[in-house]
Amino acid sequence: MQREPAEINLIDAFERISVQIFPTIKEGSAWAAQQIASLIKQKGEAGEKCVLGLATGSTPKTLYAELVRMHREEGLSFKNVITFNLDEYYPIDNDAFQSYNAFMQRHLFQHVDIDPANIHIPNGQLSKEEIKTHAVSYEKMLEEAGGIDLQILGIGINGHIGFNEPGSSIYSKTRLINLENSTRLANAYEFANISEVPRLAITMGISVILKAKKIVLLAWGPSKAAVVQKAVEGNVTETVPASLLQQHNDCSFIIDEAAAAELTRFKSPWLTGEITWSAKMIKKAVVNMALKLEKPVLSLTNNDYTEFGLGDLLIEQGDAYEINLKVYYMLRDSITGWPGGKPKATIPAHPERSEPYPKKVIIFSPHPDDDIISMGGTFQRLHDQGHEVHIAYQTSGIFS
Ligand code: F6R
Repeated sequence: MQREPAEINLIDAFERISVQIFPTIKEGSAWAAQQIASLIKQKGEAGEKCVLGLATGSTPKTLYAELVRMHREEGLSFKNVITFNLDEYYPIDNDAFQSYNAFMQRHLFQHVDIDPANIHIPNGQLSKEEIKTHAVSYEKMLEEAGGIDLQILGIGINGHIGFNEPGSSIYSKTRLINLENSTRLANAYEFANISEVPRLAITMGISVILKAKKIVLLAWGPSKAAVVQKAVEGNVTETVPASLLQQHNDCSFIIDEAAAAELTRFKSPWLTGEITWSAKMIKKAVVNMALKLEKPVLSLTNNDYTEFGLGDLLIEQGDAYEINLKVYYMLRDSITGWPGGKPKATIPAHPERSEPYPKKVIIFSPHPDDDIISMGGTFQRLHDQGHEVHIAYQTSGIFS
């Protein structure tokens, strides 16, 4: 009997880790909470302990809130749960607000019926000499508990998992580590200012994380999109520690749409399946190609289109010259000298509303003078063309 050729899943050809995308953080977190709850119950019914590896940071907060809700409203019990946290700042008092010990109490442990003896979090209060022994005994306790059944991870914008910063080896053990400045900056919001963010942390090593039977990594928001793409579609490399998860046989990424935006299936959907070539999609594909090839749009050739995987577009829309011009006009028409719309004028290529006139404009500026640096000309025009312009400066006052 002749066998049908195996169907090739084009998304899988790019994504080397299973990815599930949810519209909102709430829905993604609810899914992850459901996985945890089922495992706890299944282990409970078998008379076994359920060993969870837990993360801190902003990412799992909604997940923990959902677990707390399930405990309160649905009777989910944590009596058979043993937990091991990934990391802790060093040095830090366990009681300090910013410590991960305190974080876990606030967001999960004090609201559920877990036995405090079953909670394990690296201790940031020890002396440097004591840390090595502490790290060894942390891993030993984990082993004695039977290993992690389900590990929850977040991801740093530099690709770290736990606090395994870029360069961490796949064989790394639980240890002290230097935090990168980007990590300290990303976490500074919990502290009075960046100089108070500890420079060191204790983290479970990557080899320990990879021993977990199942791994679920959560990532939300646009700031994680680039690193999610690298981890899922890039090469396995210690410079992006999360890419090492490609070596695990039961790891999935649970992410929202914003964090998924850089994946090829969204960034270049023509490469992963059939698409409808709307004007917007043509512009996206051609601009993307021009940027990658570092060529002006008008210089792109038929060959470029073919080699860039856009041969279909040539077949459907004519040759490169025609398509280049079309995209060039689209780009040109997105530039206007009337950012608030031209009163009494209707110019089809410029859909900015001419009415009402004048407009009330609020410019949100993430840092005083970003308005001038990034859109000073537009700002001036809005004012000169008679609109009422206001600026909302968004600053915590840290960078005075
Ligand atoms: C913390 C941890 C870190 C965070 C990561 C993302 O226990 O393991 O890897 O998951 O730094 O932090 P957030 O969630 O604050 O973006």
